[in-house]
Amino acid sequence: MKLSGRTAIVTGAGSGMGKAIATLYAQEGAKVVVADVNHEAIESVVSEIKNSGGQAIGVVANVAKQEDVDNMVNTAVEEFGSLDILVNNAGIMDNFTPVGDVSDELWERVIAVNLTGPFKAARAAIKVMEEQEKGGVIINNASVGGLFGVRGGAPYIASKHGLVGLTKNMAATYGMHGNIRVNAIAPGGVNTNIQSTITAPHELGLKAIANTGTAPTGEPIQIARVALFLASDDSDFVNGDVIKVDGGWTAG
Ligand SMILES: NC(=O)c1ccc[n+]([C@@H]2O[C@H](COP(=O)([O-])OP(=O)(O)OC[C@H]3O[C@@H](n4cnc5c(N)ncnc54)[C@H](O)[C@@H]3O)[C@@H](O)[C@H]2O)c1
Repeated sequence: MKLSGRTAIVTGAGSGMGKAIATLYAQEGAKVVVADVNHEAIESVVSEIKNSGGQAIGVVANVAKQEDVDNMVNTAVEEFGSLDILVNNAGIMDNFTPVGDVSDELWERVIAVNLTGPFKAARAAIKVMEEQEKGGVIINNASVGGLFGVRGGAPYIASKHGLVGLTKNMAATYGMHGNIRVNAIAPGGVNTNIQSTITAPHELGLKAIANTGTAPTGEPIQIARVALFLASDDSDFVNGDVIKVDGGWTAG
């Protein structure tokens, strides 16, 4: 097993890619903190993991709130004795809204969850990881929208580009001059519940995304396998990278 004896926090683990990552990590021997805003979803994922013989606990945490993030990290250390892997996966979309129609509320909500959340969680996790001789690993679930100008609206694209920048800065500091590797994943189209949050897609945003062609649809486990590689020692010389996992959507 690739993550035997390690403790991992996965945010947004109640659904989609976060659920797949938490489940795969537990299968690979990790003690997993299943963190999400959705209490029922947490309970269900924790039960599934335990019923399959894995170790997991649930923590209700809104990543945009410092007190929730601190509680999430403290719980990992108190319950499992260390924190080896943080996966900043929780994220929300923005109905493909272009900047002219973005309200302050939408901008602030998307940036708070997709960018400030990972920052707050990384800040709390790094304090623990720096104290451990074995260091740690941080993985940020960005998006191809963190590398290209379309595939989301203005807040989403800005938040994911910011997350890629945060990844590189942390890698160049804590990875190069310490023992904390930091990488990002940039998924393309993946079959999760996030699509159900696109309730009123903006016409101009849809026009822009239409130019990117049809995205192949991946399954959460296909992203989880890359998250396993980045968490394990198989990637021990990979630091500051952004791995696109999009079935070739952006290759052409
Ligand atoms: N699905 C895609 O096509 C796609 C593509 C590229 C990137 N992504 C990114 O992948 C990540 C996971 O998304 P998904 O597609 O699995 O979505 P999902 O909607 O299936 O799951 C997201 C989970 O995050 C939780 N969540 C939302 N806000 C939260 C908060 N403030 N704090 C804690 N948890 C919160 C939700 O309750 C949900 O359980 C996101 O960061 C998303 O931007 C998704």
